Amino acid sequence: MRFFQVKPAIYYGEDSLKRVQEGNYKNVCIATDQGMVKFGILKMLTDLLDEKGISYHVFSDIESDPSTDIVEKGLMHIIMNKPDALIAIGGGSVIDAAKAIIFYCVNFKRILFEDRFVHKPEFIAIPTTAGTGSEVTEYAVITDKKNNTKIPLTDILMMPDTAILDPKLIESVPPRATAATGMDVLTHAIEAFISTNNNPFSRCYASKATELVFKSLYESYENGSNLTAKSSMQIASCMAGIAFNSAGLGITHSIAHAVGASFHLPHGLANAIVLPYVIKFNGQNGRVEHLYQRLLSAAGILNVSGDATETMYNSVVALSQSLNIPACLKDAGVTEEAYLADREAMLQKAMADVCTTTNPQTVDYEAMKKVMDQAYYGL
Ligand SMILES: NC(=O)c1ccc[n+]([C@@H]2O[C@H](COP(=O)([O-])OP(=O)(O)OC[C@H]3O[C@@H](n4cnc5c(N)ncnc54)[C@H](O)[C@@H]3O)[C@@H](O)[C@H]2O)c1
Ligand SMILES: [Zn+2]
Repeated sequence: MRFFQVKPAIYYGEDSLKRVQEGNYKNVCIATDQGMVKFGILKMLTDLLDEKGISYHVFSDIESDPSTDIVEKGLMHIIMNKPDALIAIGGGSVIDAAKAIIFYCVNFKRILFEDRFVHKPEFIAIPTTAGTGSEVTEYAVITDKKNNTKIPLTDILMMPDTAILDPKLIESVPPRATAATGMDVLTHAIEAFISTNNNPFSRCYASKATELVFKSLYESYENGSNLTAKSSMQIASCMAGIAFNSAGLGITHSIAHAVGASFHLPHGLANAIVLPYVIKFNGQNGRVEHLYQRLLSAAGILNVSGDATETMYNSVVALSQSLNIPACLKDAGVTEEAYLADREAMLQKAMADVCTTTNPQTVDYEAMKKVMDQAYYGL
């Protein structure tokens, strides 16, 4: 028996942020970061709450790649304020931190009270990047700063109840971040399409997401105020999230998690650099090559060379180049000395990463090392 579920109610398009006025809330907590304060995005939300007389408490201490310490602080905030809704407004880092806060809050209450007295606040996720798809996944990544390790958490408790995709909120994302987060979407879509757990539902969402990325990411990067392109990238991000929530990911993410934690590279950038090398590695497998062929045709890309792996690789590299993404980790500024010093530890982490378990091509230590070296030095 297999299972597929899409849980959050998704509101999208211009002015969808107004949905927050319709929930009959009395007291909400807002989880966010300083970027949202600086770019006036938090104010767009609080103005709407003020108009409706909804009281709110803001927790704005979340940092990129949120740590266990931040989650503990946020947990205290929500326990003290007892909100009827928790609104996470920000990029994947904010939404992931809010997920972990909800997860620990409910489990903490379960220790103290019987289940019928445990109240979970409504969880509203409002992404301000088009990248992680975190608004529709039951998955969060928290960083253990002491050990430079990313801890993946998975639990249905963390699935948002509502997702709001308002393109005005991503207008201010700088071009480099638009490029990196957009390539994260493409990585989710491709990895979910070929994963060992792929299924008709995940393939449907992943192929539409791939089509939208090839159609809208470059325009979204070149012309940040094109809200049609931005809205299309938000939908792509959300669809790729639905796809990988069901099918899982692959070793692009395993390697990106490890190198991202070691060298403090943004998640999307690390994925963007690693993805082409993993496409080639997985494409050695005949089944994957067949899936690439199907994905290319669903995404409207002509298979010019006749070799689906080569076409997939060339299409992704061409998109990356147009977005000025470095071709390898060395070009991204990671020194060889730093890379070699951390390589062994990064390989161990990548092998143990949960995403490795759904990679379609079997990967042993030597194969992982070869792909990681290619991602560092280039081909
Ligand atoms: N839960 C999941 O399913 C999932 C999937 C992929 C990645 N992740 C995690 O998500 C995190 C990455 O998230 P991200 O790529 O969205 O970046 P991010 O949340 O780390 O944000 C990066 C920076 O962009 C700024 N920013 C965000 N929105 C902005 C806007 N509209 N205008 C201007 N600046 C803005 C933020 O303030 C921050 O400084 C990583 O921790 C990664 O591990 C989670
Ligand atoms: Zn990702």
